[in-house]
Amino acid sequence: MLITFEGVDLCGKTTQAEILIKRLKDLGYDVVFVREPGGTKISEMIRDILLDLRNLEMDSITELFLFSASRAQLVKEIILPALNSGKIVICDRFYDSTLAYQGYGRGIDIEKIKVINELASSGLVPDVTFLIDIPVDEIYRRKSKVIETGGVKNSTDRMESSGVEFYERVRRGYLEIAKMSERFVVIDGTMGIDEISEKIWSIVFEKLKLQVR
Ligand SMILES: Nc1ncnc2c1ncn2[C@@H]1O[C@H](COP(=O)(O)OP(=O)(O)OP(=O)(O)O)[C@@H](O)[C@H]1O
Ligand SMILES: [Mg+2]
Repeated sequence: MLITFEGVDLCGKTTQAEILIKRLKDLGYDVVFVREPGGTKISEMIRDILLDLRNLEMDSITELFLFSASRAQLVKEIILPALNSGKIVICDRFYDSTLAYQGYGRGIDIEKIKVINELASSGLVPDVTFLIDIPVDEIYRRKSKVIETGGVKNSTDRMESSGVEFYERVRRGYLEIAKMSERFVVIDGTMGIDEISEKIWSIVFEKLKLQVR
């Protein structure tokens, strides 16, 4: 089973992925957790290029290919082998991020991105995708909170330096994408962490029961 988490920065993807992983592991499931961009030696090197604030001149097509290159390596090296050996794979971002950020956010043709996405992910399609939706002002509220409390996110990376309008387009893009596919579950990310994790768990639990049958 392939489960992906999507949504704008700070919506709660990692928080929820970690809670879900713990629940699955407690039940004895073999779980592999990956984050994008990254997850392999090569993908982490590409991640550094993508997030480096010294690379502000990066063209959006370059960005598209770098994210896709990072993903192609992750799929071949980690995700496909894990799925083939019956493990549950949980991705903190996957190709819907490319549609939302490089497509709706940067303005690259969506249909062209779909072709690249399919190539980079070897045609994989997630079994379920949780889109955690928060309004853009909530991103900034959480950002300042994290900085205040001295959290790890005390600096802005290149992707996060794109501004309010960019985030608005990305958020709207995500909601559009979600409408087009049955695999999406849209979750109101302003709810409490526990409430969200219960909702996610009820859906994953149902899917696991169906798989056993
Ligand atoms: N439901 C929630 N309500 C309020 N705050 C939350 C909620 N979920 C997560 N947070 C807080 O928001 C911040 C971002 O959460 P998290 O790191 O899980 O988001 P993310 O989507 O993984 O972010 P990024 O895209 O930057 O990796 C953290 O400080 C976290 O504690
Ligand atoms: Mg995260």
